[in-house]
Amino acid sequence: MREAPWTLAVAGKGGTGKTTVAALLVEELRGCGPVLAVDADPNCNLGEALGIPVRRTIGQMRDEILEKLGDLPPGVSKEQLLELGLHECLVEDEGVDLLAMGHGEGPRCYCMVNHVLRRCVEILRRNYRYVVLDNEAGMEHLSRRTTQDVDVLLIVAEPNPVSLRSARRISQIVEDLKLRVSRTFLVLNKAGEDFSGDVGIPVLGRIPYDPEVERLWAGGRPLRELSPFSPARLAVKKLLEKLQQRRHDACP
Ligand SMILES: Nc1ncnc2c1ncn2[C@@H]1O[C@H](COP(=O)(O)OP(=O)(O)OP(=O)(O)O)[C@@H](O)[C@H]1O
Ligand SMILES: [Mg+2]
Repeated sequence: MREAPWTLAVAGKGGTGKTTVAALLVEELRGCGPVLAVDADPNCNLGEALGIPVRRTIGQMRDEILEKLGDLPPGVSKEQLLELGLHECLVEDEGVDLLAMGHGEGPRCYCMVNHVLRRCVEILRRNYRYVVLDNEAGMEHLSRRTTQDVDVLLIVAEPNPVSLRSARRISQIVEDLKLRVSRTFLVLNKAGEDFSGDVGIPVLGRIPYDPEVERLWAGGRPLRELSPFSPARLAVKKLLEKLQQRRHDACP
């Protein structure tokens, strides 16, 4: 069996650039081995950033399974239905497959959909070399343990006190909940070179403000259209290189 995939997760306060960072990581890893991109934000938009249209979310699948539960033919388990439905949720693109959480209807839905998403990732992950997980804003995904079995957690923050405080809280909760996260780093996004100060989380690096990123988002265009010299693209490439050096696993 293939060794466990290298799993990177992105977290942070709302609007700090989590999806941007996740999408740029996926673009860098494309071609280095199969990548599973997981949009674990119920309000999904990783597909948009990657230019991969989502047909069906885990939330929609869960609702359909619940509707069919009463008419399941004998011998067909909920788990089998899940595996069947899962492949319909997985969108295949060149070097990258995308799975989007979305949300379902009804009470307690987020917890249930989170549970199904965790199970889906468990089933799928062994087929990939890399897994990149884009999380919703805040900390709910931590307490629901969607961010689990992660090699590297990148907490994205803008260089302002509110965003940095939020980053610190996220890092603290990861410790308190004893989540299986091997290493946590801070990534400063939309940041100038003048940032200094100790946030209590090792800083992996910074991504400068890049007007091209903003323009593509505003136009609903995928981030792979960024020029090869885009400062944000180059910065994420550098972050990934640093991580790979530490992992002794350079992309072939
Ligand atoms: N380095 C950057 N340079 C310029 N604009 C950026 C940069 N990173 C992100 N942005 C802009 O910030 C906005 C929010 O980015 P993004 O959607 O990646 O954040 P998020 O943390 O995923 O948000 P949410 O919490 O809503 O999921 C986007 O409109 C994007 O244009
Ligand atoms: Mg996002």
